[in-house]
Amino acid sequence: MTQIINGKDVAASVIAKIKAASDTLEAKSGVKPGLAVIIVGDDPASHAYVGAKGRMAKECGFNSVQHTLPEETTQEDLLKLVAELNADASIHGVLVQLPLPRHFDSEAVIQSILPEKDVDGLHVVNAGKLATGDLETGLISCTPAGSMLLVRTIHGADLSGLNAVVIGRSNLFGKPMGQLLLNANATVTMAHSRTKDLAGICRTADILVAAVGRPEMVKADWVKPGATVIDVGINRVPAPEKGEGKTKLVGDVAYAEASAVAGAITPVPGGVGPMTIAMLMANTVIAAYRKAGETPPAF
Ligand SMILES: NC(=O)c1ccc[n+]([C@@H]2O[C@H](COP(=O)([O-])OP(=O)(O)OC[C@H]3O[C@@H](n4cnc5c(N)ncnc54)[C@H](OP(=O)(O)O)[C@@H]3O)[C@@H](O)[C@H]2O)c1
Repeated sequence: MTQIINGKDVAASVIAKIKAASDTLEAKSGVKPGLAVIIVGDDPASHAYVGAKGRMAKECGFNSVQHTLPEETTQEDLLKLVAELNADASIHGVLVQLPLPRHFDSEAVIQSILPEKDVDGLHVVNAGKLATGDLETGLISCTPAGSMLLVRTIHGADLSGLNAVVIGRSNLFGKPMGQLLLNANATVTMAHSRTKDLAGICRTADILVAAVGRPEMVKADWVKPGATVIDVGINRVPAPEKGEGKTKLVGDVAYAEASAVAGAITPVPGGVGPMTIAMLMANTVIAAYRKAGETPPAF
């Protein structure tokens, strides 16, 4: 029978561990993990994400700070705020909510965050550490880190002998996911928009990870029977069956048909989604432990 991988449950156990680690750190060193989130402009989806991050940080016992800046903020002013947060000893994690309004050079903003406070794991130092196999001293991008925890619930930590296919090669997800799978000894294929015979390549996968942004692209006959399918896509599509003008979220995998073939599969919503915010909190507590000279918890 197909196992449904419940991201909410796995995320809840990660959060419980973070709360305990946060309490322990405060009792031992008097340090409360601090997370600062910067949001620029009025995008409602971004505000919803940032609100959820702030609530979760408080729930974890962190010092949670939000900086809400107007759309017309300049690059210089944003860089100044990041520099202040870099220098603030009470803040261990700095996150700039993406996407930034179009007039910003996002890459320059991300690279201005101190690597040890880069809880989104997007700084080149953190990406480079992952690429060179150092999983101990950097911070790993949250969605791939969370997806790996879901893979681990099925296959354990050592993926020796397993073929993994990742569809998507973004810096945010596909590349770091490929690196994590490789580090765990999987044989990894990175597929993308120029890949020939994508369906055939997917059918070789014991672990199939889809991060494309195309609703229900991965069909049942792309899935090797018994494979583990991790669906990272979040796509909002019309749902006339729910009423006029209504929408629903679907992944990059045609869930109903693929789950009949897969051995294990993540649903959308309730799969990878809840893991992203949990791993953001994990990175913040790890950063705080390191700053206090303590050994951080492992996730
Ligand atoms: N659950 C979460 O918390 C979470 C977090 C991050 C992202 N996501 C979701 O994950 C999805 C991907 O995000 P992203 O930031 O990685 O997106 P992205 O930067 O747009 O990258 C998409 C990737 O998909 C590839 N692609 C596009 N069309 C394709 C096709 N027809 N066949 C094969 N590959 C194709 C692209 O290939 P090329 O490089 O060749 O263009 C690219 O590498 C989105 O739905 C996003 O909403 C979810």
